[in-house]
Amino acid sequence: DAPLAPVLTAEDSLEAVRQAASACRRCELWQPATRTVFGEGPPDARVVLVGEQPGDEEDLSGRPFVGPAGRLLDRVLRELGLDRGSFYLTNAVKHFRFEQRGKRRLHRNPSSAQVQACRPWLQEELARLQPQHIVCLGATAAQAVFGAGFKLMEQRGRWQDLTDGAQAMATVHPAWVLRQPDPQAREDALQVLRTDLAQLAGRS
Ligand code: URA
Repeated sequence: DAPLAPVLTAEDSLEAVRQAASACRRCELWQPATRTVFGEGPPDARVVLVGEQPGDEEDLSGRPFVGPAGRLLDRVLRELGLDRGSFYLTNAVKHFRFEQRGKRRLHRNPSSAQVQACRPWLQEELARLQPQHIVCLGATAAQAVFGAGFKLMEQRGRWQDLTDGAQAMATVHPAWVLRQPDPQAREDALQVLRTDLAQLAGRS
């Protein structure tokens, strides 16, 4: 990855990284999007959750995981007795990629070039947070953390050691749960998310 120097040095705080990211032009997504949606949460969080990219509501509010997927995530965490407020939440890509259809803005998956362009921001966040555990929600986040060869459905739910001392795991994305075509499929998908996130008990 192209380093963010001379924009940032190791001494710069997380807040300085956020400031720098707010003016990012490393890919073309900044233009149609409303704003950069940077991560949020306690700077001493032991667990970081990484999503794919902000959605419509996140783009408008400037906060990660406040739309439908975020509400489902909150519900699952609450059911598991986990406190969202103790986690740092961020995304692999920090601008909303969408396609305009009339008044609606439809989510589009970020391209691998966009994920690569945004990756230094995630690395700068993780370098300052130094979490013990990183949970990737969905394939895009998993590939940003583990590399392009990561196979979500084969490797999900298993902690792996990263070179910086953190452990990381991937699970399915809550938006994928919401996209399931019928109630049974949705319940099954939800159970996968629940089972994997249950591993955070005692780790936050
Ligand atoms: N989906 C994500 O991956 N991230 C968000 O912040 C919201 C929805």
